[in-house]
Amino acid sequence: MKLPEIAGKLKGLRGPVVMEMLEAAGRMEEEGRPVIHLVRGEPDFDTPHHIREAAKEALDQGYTHYPPLRGYPELREAVAEKLERENGLTADPHKEVLITTGATTGMYTALAALLNPGDEVLIPDPIYDPFANLIRYLDCMPVSIPTECGDNRFYLDFKTAVKRLSSRTKAVLINNPWNPTGTVMDETDLETLASMVLGNNLYLISDEIYEKIVFSGYRHLSVAAVIPDIKDRTITVNSFSKTYAMTGWRIGYNVAPEPLTGAMHRVYQQVSRGPAAFGQRAALTALQGPQDCVSEMQNEYQARRELLLNGLSAMEGLQPVEPEGTFFTFARMEKGDKGSRELALSILEKAGVLVTPGSAFGSCGEGYLRFSFAHSRENIEQGLKAIGGYLNSSMGD
Ligand SMILES: Cc1ncc(COP(=O)(O)O)c(C=O)c1O
Repeated sequence: MKLPEIAGKLKGLRGPVVMEMLEAAGRMEEEGRPVIHLVRGEPDFDTPHHIREAAKEALDQGYTHYPPLRGYPELREAVAEKLERENGLTADPHKEVLITTGATTGMYTALAALLNPGDEVLIPDPIYDPFANLIRYLDCMPVSIPTECGDNRFYLDFKTAVKRLSSRTKAVLINNPWNPTGTVMDETDLETLASMVLGNNLYLISDEIYEKIVFSGYRHLSVAAVIPDIKDRTITVNSFSKTYAMTGWRIGYNVAPEPLTGAMHRVYQQVSRGPAAFGQRAALTALQGPQDCVSEMQNEYQARRELLLNGLSAMEGLQPVEPEGTFFTFARMEKGDKGSRELALSILEKAGVLVTPGSAFGSCGEGYLRFSFAHSRENIEQGLKAIGGYLNSSMGD
């Protein structure tokens, strides 16, 4: 007997484009053709030693049971202390902080707590591609805030965004520092954003997962700290994944005023029991332990950024946008008539280098390729050489 149909709304859902590209590369690697990766948003560093040791100790101490639903109080307190110390944000650890299994579930929880079916959410175009899918999955509509690239920097085009507001617009979602463009929003950017949010009675979700990957001359600002009026309608989403190279641990946190955190908690308790107890103890050590590991990784990203920018600038046909933060560089395609997906696939096939097409992140990303420098200097050097050789020989064909 034929089984009943599974959920119809899954039909329109795509996985992250990076996964599709990785599958294409995987097929080549299986055939014995090596691929240089400049694609993933995943630090290539191991989680620092003292954090790993803390997890081992926690296991031996019996942290193997269900953790408290909102996360261990000590961890929430450490998050609140960190927010006050580093972000200038005050949050009651018992009512305004929710420990999540990373920003992915954190974002789902935030959206599910705010949205009714049919609501619209303004999101930058281009942006980390899973966000739009998540909004659609909740039977809501992502509406793009287009961008402009000027002075070697991506900006949100708020004038157009305002024209796209409707009676169903419920929230604005940003990522600051911003994957894939590398922009770190400054005070002026945040003030303009806040005036649109406040003037139209919207919520704001701010994913700040790249807050520690910011380059010299730039500073990450938490919108809810810079614009106090917006705090009561802002959910800040964060995670340990990028800052502490803890992607596989699945730990993050959402911060918002009590009514919003309460709503997120109601969603969260249906879908998760939170990150593993011993992982939460390790996250506590990450926040309270020495921070040299973070600055060492920052210094390495800074060096890789220069290496990549120098290499791309010297290359025929690609013009990099200098990232202010994140470990991504968006590079404009200046020659040839290929779309970004086509060019990325040709670079994979012909040069054996995996990069992400800008169109994966929205239609305003067309005409760009995203390079990740969460990969080693060796990968960057070899990748640049192979791409340079390919572009020189083939641009325009
Ligand atoms: C903007 C952004 N948010 C969230 C995530 C996922 O974070 P997590 O590992 O905490 O789920 C990523 C991962 O690349 C990302 O780039």
